[in-house]
Parts: sequence; structure tokens; C-alpha cells
Amino acid sequence: MSTEATVPTITLNNGVEIPQLGFGVFQIPAEDTKDATLAALEAGYRHIDTAQMYGNEAGVGEAIKASGIDRSEIFVTSKLNNGFHDPEDAKVAFDLTLEAIGSDYVDLFLIHWPLPDVGDYTETWGAMEEFYRSGRAKAIGVSNFQPHHLRKIHASGTIVPAVNQIEVHPYFQNDEVRAFDAEHEIATEAWSPIAQGKVLDDPVIGRIAESHGKSPAQVTLRWHIERGDIVFPKSVTPARVKENFELFDFELTEADMAAMAGLERNERTGPDPDEFNYVPS
Ligand SMILES: NC(=O)c1ccc[n+]([C@@H]2O[C@H](COP(=O)([O-])OP(=O)(O)OC[C@H]3O[C@@H](n4cnc5c(N)ncnc54)[C@H](OP(=O)(O)O)[C@@H]3O)[C@@H](O)[C@H]2O)c1
Repeated sequence: MSTEATVPTITLNNGVEIPQLGFGVFQIPAEDTKDATLAALEAGYRHIDTAQMYGNEAGVGEAIKASGIDRSEIFVTSKLNNGFHDPEDAKVAFDLTLEAIGSDYVDLFLIHWPLPDVGDYTETWGAMEEFYRSGRAKAIGVSNFQPHHLRKIHASGTIVPAVNQIEVHPYFQNDEVRAFDAEHEIATEAWSPIAQGKVLDDPVIGRIAESHGKSPAQVTLRWHIERGDIVFPKSVTPARVKENFELFDFELTEADMAAMAGLERNERTGPDPDEFNYVPS
């Protein structure tokens, strides 16, 4: 049996299916991205999460080509860079994404940050809707949007975002935003799912891991999967890439899930979307 058959898919609100487990390429240098992504594809991953801001979309495209796997079997997400929120700028940026990836479509395209004090993201959403209608983005969504940002999109737009990609891990469980997403048929994607490694020494996670004969990273990723979120851990270490894919041969108990819920600290690893207005110069 092929390993990729073990990854469940989530059906987005427009009917598009996304593998619940993918591979993230944030902070992988451009020159290393092809090899890292290729290692992930060889391990069975069929979902890659990149962004214009990461500067490594081309490496993802090169890996897809080098893998020999049909483009249609790989789910590719990218995100609109800060500083390109003006609809005309967004159109130029989106064309560059397709060119860099070497494909005439992406499976999912997101507004990376709401940037509440920079321009008007509802106008940006209008451009996103055009990308969707043209068929060049099979699904569109947002990232780092709080419920009040999403309400503005609901009020002004005609398409409900398919996805909201937000920070979620045991130390920042973000349940209020997740509940809002679920109520509005928006799938939640959990970024920094292992808090960039910060949760891996947690004694509670360590104890659960030991009881299942699994690693702390596997237990944490499995916790996300059982909560129904979509995850794409990043690693440039082939053994970890493989380890992070082996999540579907065990289940957490109710007591494990309750113990994980108790780890909440309201501790972000990244910026607060209500305060983050960074635009590269
Ligand atoms: N939308 C957004 O604003 C946003 C923000 C952040 C991230 N993201 C997305 O989410 C993805 C994942 O988040 P992330 O990259 O920030 O962090 P992460 O996946 O939570 O953690 C990555 C770090 O953990 C290490 N690691 C991975 N697997 C491990 C394992 N099994 N055991 C021990 N250490 C392990 C990696 O080290 P090595 O690489 O050295 O192995 C790396 O330092 C990103 O790549 C990106 O696609 C989106």
C-alpha cells in the first residue's frame, strides 16, 4: 500500500479536497527548497505550503517537476505578500507566483496577513475572487484573520474564504478563532503546529508520547489531526520529515486530549494579527 493513501483529506467549502497533512517550507533557504520538498514528496507528502514572502516558491516548483509526480496529485498553497494588497499589485504578484511555481494554477491562494492599518483587505479580497473565478486558484482563503476581520470579508465579499491559516499549537490553542471558522464553514489550518519545537520538551507531551511509543512531535501533530485542523510541519531533516508523516497508526485517548487541552498558555510564537502591519520596503 502506498503511504500517501493514509493521509485523510478535508473537503473545503467549495468542494475542493485538501490533504490534512502537508509540508511547510517557511524559513527554508531558496537554494535548499527543491531538495527539502523533494524529500517530503518522496516520503509521501502531497501537500506543500509556501508563500511569496518565503522567497522559495520556485524551489517548490522545481521539486514537483523533478519528482515525476503528476501536478494534479500535489496540493500547492501560496500566499499574497504584504505590500501587494492593492488589487492591481495583487494581480501582478499572483502572476509571479504561478510563474515561479511553473504551473498555470495553485490549489489554494491566501492573503497572508490582514495588515489592519495598511490599505483595505476587503478590496484585496475582490482580487482574490477574480483569481478564483479565472480558475487559476482552485480555492481562496486568508491567513491570520481574526473573527472581526472575517466579518468584514463576509459583509463585502461574495465568496466565503475556504481556509483561515492561523497560529495553533498546544501553548496557543486559538480555540475562539477555530470555533468561528467552524461555524462559518472555513477550514482551520494550524501554522507552527509544534511551536517551532518549543512544545517538544513539555513533560505532559513527553509522557503521552512514551505511552504510545511515539515522539513528542508525532503526538502533537496527531492532536491537531484529531481536532480536525490541517497541518504542515516544516523540517529540513529527512528523518523528521518521515517521522512527521507517521501519524495515522495510533490514536490519542480522551484523557490524552484532555491533558493536551490543559497545556494552553496563550503564548504566541509569532506576531499578533491585530498589531502586525509589517510591509517590506
Ligand atoms: N501563515 C503564516 O503566517 C505562517 C507563519 C508561520 C508558519 N506558517 C506555515 O506553517 C509551517 C510550519 O510552521 P513553522 O515552520 O513555523 O514551525 P513548525 O513546523 O512548528 O516547526 C519547525 C521546527 O521544528 C523542527 N522540527 C520539525 N519536526 C521535528 C521533529 N519531528 N522533531 C524535532 N524537531 C522538529 C524543525 O527543525 P529542522 O527543520 O531543523 O528539522 C524546525 O526548527 C511553515 O513552514 C509555513 O508553511 C505560516
